[in-house]
Amino acid sequence: IRTIGVLTSGGDAPGMNAAIRAVTRTALSKGLKVRGIRRGYHGLLREEIIDLSARDVSDTIQRGGTILQTARCQSMRTEEGQQKAAAICKKYGIDGLVVIGGDGSFAGAQKLSHLGVNTIGLPGTIDLDIACTDYTIGFDTAVNTAMEAIDKVRDTSTSHERCSIIEVMGRDAGYLALWCGIANGAERILMPEESDYDEGALIEDILANKKRGKKNYIIINAEGVGDSINLAKKIEQATGIETRATILGHMQRGGSPTCKDRVYASTMGAMAVELLCAGKTNRIVGYKHGRFVDYDIEEALAMKKEIPAHQYEISKILAI
Ligand code: F6P
Repeated sequence: IRTIGVLTSGGDAPGMNAAIRAVTRTALSKGLKVRGIRRGYHGLLREEIIDLSARDVSDTIQRGGTILQTARCQSMRTEEGQQKAAAICKKYGIDGLVVIGGDGSFAGAQKLSHLGVNTIGLPGTIDLDIACTDYTIGFDTAVNTAMEAIDKVRDTSTSHERCSIIEVMGRDAGYLALWCGIANGAERILMPEESDYDEGALIEDILANKKRGKKNYIIINAEGVGDSINLAKKIEQATGIETRATILGHMQRGGSPTCKDRVYASTMGAMAVELLCAGKTNRIVGYKHGRFVDYDIEEALAMKKEIPAHQYEISKILAI
């Protein structure tokens, strides 16, 4: 390996800059050249490629977002796009590529690997929805950001003795909702993975909760369930309890990364370069059972991940 390229792809996540910095500085320390690819695969196809020095990544570890910018790229799903991307990597001498993103980004990395560009994927998403890893870059910051915001909603919800629905991100996964639900002491967590959702039972529980003497009812609703505003109207109508919906939205994706996101993203970035230097390709770095590991991309994409049912049960018990 002589030249390592690095790009961020898909939704941004706090900690991505720590990973870019670690890739850059680890590669430079091994005498390699580093090229930053702007705007993900979209930028790669448009040859938006810059050289990265150790100083270019100074003062970035604490910054949210991604200094390389990011994009979701449809062309990379086509064979034509994949061939073009591989040819551009070759043109710029990029013989090792680090792709920081989610499953969609890894599918592109896998194709590039088959076309002769050594690639390593790093899991970067606030959704935690990558099966081969218990940790994704950005989740820890996002869940802490959401938790702090929900604490604030709780204050006013208690004062007014309301029911409050707070919708968190997560695409089709309920990890952010589950973690916030437990951390914020929510009365109810709604997740797309839940199969036994019953609106009638929810209404009864809200009424019973008031009889038990509780001053508010907090519902953490996952984006994958959605429809928070309508649900608030239905609850208010059925219970007579004032109900408000708050959709946290993109504020969950911003902000300075937590210590955990900085340290784990730095470790993963360094590992990606070490793997490339050891001649590995088509791998994803993950964190499983307390250890940093790496998997074949095919194998990783075929893995399944489930919401921890036990934790969900615990959240219900703790809500009495
Ligand atoms: O994957 C991260 C994420 O923030 C999801 O939680 C959400 O569904 C999606 O991205 C939003 O995407 P966009 O920023 O394109 O609206």
